Amino acid sequence: MERTFAIIKPDSFAAGNAGKILARIYAEGFKVVGIKKLYMSKVEAEGFYYVHKERPFFGELTDFMSSAPCIVMVLETEGAILKWRDLMGATNPAEAAEGTMRKEFGSNIGENATHGSDAPETAAFEIPYFFSGLELL
Ligand code: RTP
Ligand code: MG
Repeated sequence: MERTFAIIKPDSFAAGNAGKILARIYAEGFKVVGIKKLYMSKVEAEGFYYVHKERPFFGELTDFMSSAPCIVMVLETEGAILKWRDLMGATNPAEAAEGTMRKEFGSNIGENATHGSDAPETAAFEIPYFFSGLELL
């Protein structure tokens, strides 16, 4: 069993798409080990996306992630990291495959509906960034 970290980003939560996204997560066989609503601060968003701090879109990205509440989750299944990345689709919704979360619910490369850890080391940083051990029992 593997765990990954996922976000229903501010755009998709505000648009009322959290229920549909969660339904797909359950339908695909993930166990939702942790879930909560969070209104991230700018500093918290900057810490979460620190790997992108030199990128030109860092300011825009962290403004967006701290602009409104989101849903953070820990998802568990076999091969959870790749499986959730596949279900999310390409970063740019315009390039995402049919049936993926970003194709269905994303608006553009910045407001792209969901986040997912991209590797085991990333998940190992992202999960405890938002969840304590007690919240994942
Ligand atoms: P994420 O981390 O959110 O799951 O997305 P990802 O791995 O598919 O993409 P990544 O390269 O890690 O980028 C993180 C987020 O930054 C925003 N972005 N904006 N304006 C741009 O060119 C641009 N490029 C990336 C997106 O919201 C992306 O999800
Ligand atoms: Mg990423």
